[in-house]
Amino acid sequence: MKNVILVVDDDKTNLSLAQRILGPQYRIAASNSGTAALKYLETHRPDLILLDINMPEMDGFEMMEKLRSNVHTESIPVIFLTADSLAETEIKCFQMGAMDFVTKPFVPDILLSRVSKTIELDQYRHNLETMVNIQARKITEDAMRLGRIQDSVIVGMANLIESRDGSTGKHVKNTQTYVRMIATELLSRGHFTQELTPAYIENLCKAAPLHDVGKIKIPDAILQKPGRLTAEEFETMKLHTTHSRKIIQTIIGDIEDEHYVRLVEDIALYHHERWDGTGYPAGLTETNIPLSARIMAVADVFDALYEERCYKPPVRPIERIMQIMSEGRGTQFDPVILDVFVEMLPQLREMLEK
Ligand SMILES: [Fe+2]
Repeated sequence: MKNVILVVDDDKTNLSLAQRILGPQYRIAASNSGTAALKYLETHRPDLILLDINMPEMDGFEMMEKLRSNVHTESIPVIFLTADSLAETEIKCFQMGAMDFVTKPFVPDILLSRVSKTIELDQYRHNLETMVNIQARKITEDAMRLGRIQDSVIVGMANLIESRDGSTGKHVKNTQTYVRMIATELLSRGHFTQELTPAYIENLCKAAPLHDVGKIKIPDAILQKPGRLTAEEFETMKLHTTHSRKIIQTIIGDIEDEHYVRLVEDIALYHHERWDGTGYPAGLTETNIPLSARIMAVADVFDALYEERCYKPPVRPIERIMQIMSEGRGTQFDPVILDVFVEMLPQLREMLEK
């Protein structure tokens, strides 16, 4: 099939000359004004436009601007036609985004050669663009698929670990949900707006299931002990935070997304820190505790109280849980996060009833 060339020139002689030279190899559409050409372009997409610069009403440069500002025409290659061969004109043509320019009167061989080269080049560009797009889409799809597999492996692994201490297995999924709800609510109330970007919240939720992976190294006798832990046992239990960080460094340390890795490490290491500095393992205080871990602490304690554990029955009603947690306002928990959380009671109830 022949390539289509739109020739725009107010001079009829030039139009018929172009037709004579290019006609044997190309299909020619001719317009004697910019307005007529733009009308034609509303329904056609030629492979090349030959555009005269000097025309009454709309000149070639003005028409070029219109072509470049319209998504349907911006990528059509243009060769300017000009009667003068001044350097300034040539420079302007290229500045305007022309692929080439041809001086009038036409020399048939030159016109043919410029036209065929421009069309060929544009087709290469187009093919390359298509290839890049296909590859880019494939890479995105692969990355998304890998991401989904990774997410479910992480949640699966975390569930497995959680199931050892006799919790219901809902812990992982639930804490992830609480974390998302708290972060979203904080943001909507104008708290921590600098930190709580959409990417941060997404990473936070993906990181949440990993906060206790270090429990895999805690002996069953401690993890599944029905009663209170002795001081010594508690010291061992505390180590799950540093174990978690080490395991995380081993399993996801080489993931290129350093923000995500950092967030997972922070949550794992610091989710038992307390606002007043009496937590573990580092005894960090207030906002020295990473925000991610401060949010996780609230979600984690709520879930621990709400669910049944081997060492305790579930706490009911939810109001009682909020009452207990409120006693830790400003000592155990970040007061801003706790206040917002307590006010989220209706949402939490609705979610849990589902
Ligand atoms: Fe923990």
